[in-house]
Amino acid sequence: MGWSWCVYCHIEWDALADGTQGDRILTTDARALHHIVTRDDIYQKPEPTRYNLARIVGPGVLVLEGDQHKQQRRIMNPAFGSTQIRELTPTFLELSDKLRDCWLRAIEAQGGSSARLNALSELSRMTLDVIGKAGFGYDFNTLDDGEESNELSRAFSVLFGAPGGASRYWFMLQSRIPVLRPFKSMGDTPEKHASRTMDRIGRKLLKDARTEAEQAEKAGSSDFKGRDLFSVLVRANMATDLPDRLRMSDEDVLAQVPTFMVAGHETTATGTTWAIYQLTQDMSIQARLREELRTLDTDTPTLEELNSLPYLENFVKEVLRFYAPVPWTSREAMRDDVIPLAEPYTDTKGRVCNEIRVRKGQQFIIPIHCLHLVKSIWGEDADEFKPERWESPPDAIKGIPSVWSHLFSFLGGSHACIGFRFSVAEMKALLFVLVRAFEFELGVSPEDIKVRASVVQRPALKSEPQSTAQLPIIVRRAA
Ligand code: HEM
Repeated sequence: MGWSWCVYCHIEWDALADGTQGDRILTTDARALHHIVTRDDIYQKPEPTRYNLARIVGPGVLVLEGDQHKQQRRIMNPAFGSTQIRELTPTFLELSDKLRDCWLRAIEAQGGSSARLNALSELSRMTLDVIGKAGFGYDFNTLDDGEESNELSRAFSVLFGAPGGASRYWFMLQSRIPVLRPFKSMGDTPEKHASRTMDRIGRKLLKDARTEAEQAEKAGSSDFKGRDLFSVLVRANMATDLPDRLRMSDEDVLAQVPTFMVAGHETTATGTTWAIYQLTQDMSIQARLREELRTLDTDTPTLEELNSLPYLENFVKEVLRFYAPVPWTSREAMRDDVIPLAEPYTDTKGRVCNEIRVRKGQQFIIPIHCLHLVKSIWGEDADEFKPERWESPPDAIKGIPSVWSHLFSFLGGSHACIGFRFSVAEMKALLFVLVRAFEFELGVSPEDIKVRASVVQRPALKSEPQSTAQLPIIVRRAA
């Protein structure tokens, strides 16, 4: 494995995860980061990163740059707008209820008073079901039947489960050394089979969404059954007033199915897992949050009702600050550039520099998580978990490039997370249901928990270095 240690935010991260290599610049200067994420004509995902992503998800927004990227975002944006997310909130709540019922059954099965669970894998099943249903109108049913029982989720784990040993290094070599790419890799056979499965199911989803849109148009109706992101996107792409040159091809549209799965599943699961971890670490926060959630006199709140709860809002913001699920990303300069700085720095030769001069090909680590811990921006208590900081956040955070609450968690600029509203609403729905129903306790000693990051940062156990990421918890019915 390529595990390294971040000296800034003290997390173990997978140095091979994005396929980049060599010297990389890491700066937490907000002005510099603003420049990098907004100048997407100069700073783009490094080619090995895009190669790795493209061979699995195809030509989706995660992979594209420039005009093609802008074209896809333009058609996709409405599917992720506030109106759409409001309509998806009942789905978030319905699947949160289903998870709650699974945990209640686990309590019965384990003797009636409590259950020991792995919060990370449980939430991961739930968010997969959510992205299936709300993302493209597909029932994974992993909460009922487990991930293995569904062919699309099996295909997904073949493609995205970290390959071990020699295959992993072969993949890494192919992404870094382009001449090796035509050669068959050891993992090609199950990978190809999984790709075919994903493609077949994607084409069926596309056909169904199109048929529905055509029938609705013939009937002159705007009452669509398909409220999921994919159906909205297919309809937007079929709009008669869209010039043909701006229309997405079938391949582009199909690429969004694995793109939504990759981008929207583990990210939200990890964020909510850290939220539950934090609740096990501070019973007063747990009690205060439960008390506020119980003030809503309904089991099926609207998004507006969820958004009206100030402590829930501040708690979710603080979770996404303190445990930014995507802790870093990377960029490469496509040409020479000069990056402006908010604060000058002193180089190794003692010279004071007011800008960073970079050459074409220079790679960058964009330190999402580290930026959230900078004391000159967040204050001396930056490394403490404090939801109440959001009652009067410091002015300095206004310089952070962002799409939500001055947090860098969803990045900023043209590649900022398109799913941020989806994710925040889903996290709130999950917390609303689970915290009202259960009390949470950590299932291992707090000293045993460490953070391990590749694309997302997850909890893992020091005592089980070979095991996959996990968060053992004990749940009881809340009084
Ligand atoms: C807590 C949850 C989430 C976090 C922390 C998160 C974070 C991010 C970040 C940091 C990026 C930028 C990556 C880069 O350019 O290097 C990104 C992009 C993206 N995210 Fe999210 N994300 C989350 C949830 C979601 C969800 C739920 C969806 C979809 C349903 C989604 C869809 C996307 C897509 C499609 C992109 C690519 C956008 C583009 O390049 O134009 N994300 N996300």
